[in-house]
Amino acid sequence: MWATVTPLIFVASALALPTLHGRQNTPSWCNGLGAGAFDSASNFTLAAFNVSTPVTSTSGAQLVLGQDGAEDENSFGVLSTYVSYPYNQFPSFSLSSGMLLPNYEEAGMYTSDLSVSAGAEPTFEYSTVQSNIDSSAQIYCAVADTDPDQGSPYPALAVNGDVDNFSLCLTSYGQNNIVYKAVADNNGVYDYSTCYRVDVRLMGTD
Ligand SMILES: *[C@@H]1O[C@H](CO)[C@@H](O)[C@H](O)[C@H]1NC(C)=O
Ligand SMILES: *[C@@H]1O[C@H](CO)[C@@H](O)[C@H](O)[C@H]1NC(C)=O
Ligand SMILES: *[C@@H]1O[C@H](CO)[C@@H](O)[C@H](O)[C@H]1NC(C)=O
Repeated sequence: MWATVTPLIFVASALALPTLHGRQNTPSWCNGLGAGAFDSASNFTLAAFNVSTPVTSTSGAQLVLGQDGAEDENSFGVLSTYVSYPYNQFPSFSLSSGMLLPNYEEAGMYTSDLSVSAGAEPTFEYSTVQSNIDSSAQIYCAVADTDPDQGSPYPALAVNGDVDNFSLCLTSYGQNNIVYKAVADNNGVYDYSTCYRVDVRLMGTD
């Protein structure tokens, strides 16, 4: 099943509980993330947490799909704090075989996730015309805490097999955006001096 690249469809139906996978058939996008790793879940939201803050349902900053410009009939989005981008046309996300897809508030919007390189913001593409958008990159994984006593109930998001390298960084236009492996030399996309490390977690998967 891991070899199957699902054609991009608008994922509306809820999948069941997160699927846990043993070591031997771990898909590449969950490699090295341990027994709690899973790559499919539906209808959750995302929140950013300061790394030293205890994780509760209210201690994080909700993330929404913030605007990142448009080109022809396609629009681009990034993960912004709701506080800095107080619009939420994509109220939930789904994780589907390593693809992290924003769900539009109504049917009729196609979304995809783009590959994420060091120093860049995780970026998404959306359009009402499915053939306009690039196919989704299979690069995301979620990691549930396997310690029943100490663990957080909210799985951590990983990209490129990495849960530890997200930051929130301020842009010149006021959006506070998630960046992967933030760097000072970023073509002016964000102000590196404002960046701080966060964990990104999936809220409401169960
Ligand atoms: C997604 O979750 C929201 C909030 O819990 C709920 O209102 C909505 O019906 C859910 N949608 C699906 C497709 O499960
Ligand atoms: C992280 O902590 C700083 C300083 O207390 C605070 O300003 C910021 O809003 C916090 N961020 C999140 C995502 O909770
Ligand atoms: C990525 O995370 C690891 C583990 O916390 C850390 O050692 C490394 O410095 C981080 N890299 C960057 C570019 O932030």
